[in-house]
Amino acid sequence: MAGLLTDKVVLVTGGGRGIGAASARLFAAEGAAVVLASRSSDEIAAVAETIEAIGGKASWQRADVSVGDEVSALISFVVSRHGRIDGAFACAGMGSGGSGSVLDIEEKDFDASFDANTRSAWLTVKHVSKAMIAAGKGGSIVTTSSIASTMTNTRGGIYAAAKHAVDRISTVAARELGPLGIRVNTIAPGATRTEMFARWEKSKPGITEEIARTTPLGRIGEASEIAEAAAWLLSDRASYVSGAFLLVDGARSV
Ligand SMILES: NC(=O)c1ccc[n+]([C@@H]2O[C@H](COP(=O)([O-])OP(=O)(O)OC[C@H]3O[C@@H](n4cnc5c(N)ncnc54)[C@H](OP(=O)(O)O)[C@@H]3O)[C@@H](O)[C@H]2O)c1
Repeated sequence: MAGLLTDKVVLVTGGGRGIGAASARLFAAEGAAVVLASRSSDEIAAVAETIEAIGGKASWQRADVSVGDEVSALISFVVSRHGRIDGAFACAGMGSGGSGSVLDIEEKDFDASFDANTRSAWLTVKHVSKAMIAAGKGGSIVTTSSIASTMTNTRGGIYAAAKHAVDRISTVAARELGPLGIRVNTIAPGATRTEMFARWEKSKPGITEEIARTTPLGRIGEASEIAEAAAWLLSDRASYVSGAFLLVDGARSV
């Protein structure tokens, strides 16, 4: 049986570790040619190497996806290598960078969060969809929000607001790009075992157990479980799904 993403060309931003790396591995196993991007060449090269070692198709290109020219160059790289782009998982992002009240968030931390989480998602949607429009065959884009977008956590820094903006950019794009055959959806992971979560756990010991206690499914998520949701949204099996906000959080936020 053919894989979920057979013969698709799929970009994964933030593909060097965590959810992005798990997603790149799954997409390749499902038949996609994946292109990984992040600012750390060594990490994306290593993930691409492990995919290729087991017969998958993977390449990588260093890019800071919060910078327009770098995203534009990244998409040109994908198109020149593969002739087109069928899908993109805009997974790059950063956590709250420590808690903070609205009273004491620094302007530089506000900017860093919006650059890494919001600007990066918008720029990826923008440049990927331009390439899809030029090819005229439509496509699928998945952005990455967070459970934080749906919950009012006090002292959570500006992260929740940055992710909430991602949600709205994605629904606006879904409406604008739908007539051109481009689907845009958002995944909102709950707490997921990655390097980002490990940093949080270090600053807040016991958070894993606390989240497990307050999550109906009784545990935090695995990166591979977020990847499964992204793979489906990128695939033709989700052909009538656009503008969706898909919580993958073990029912913690509902
Ligand atoms: N883990 C969780 O509990 C959780 C929960 C909800 C939502 N999320 C979201 O899920 C996504 C992935 O999180 P994760 O836990 O896998 O994080 P992670 O382990 O810290 O990985 C983040 C990835 O994004 C890349 N990245 C960050 N800023 C970038 C930029 N400006 N340009 C290019 N790449 C950039 C990082 O590489 P470089 O730093 O080397 O560039 C890295 O590859 C993020 O959007 C995060 O907000 C995570």
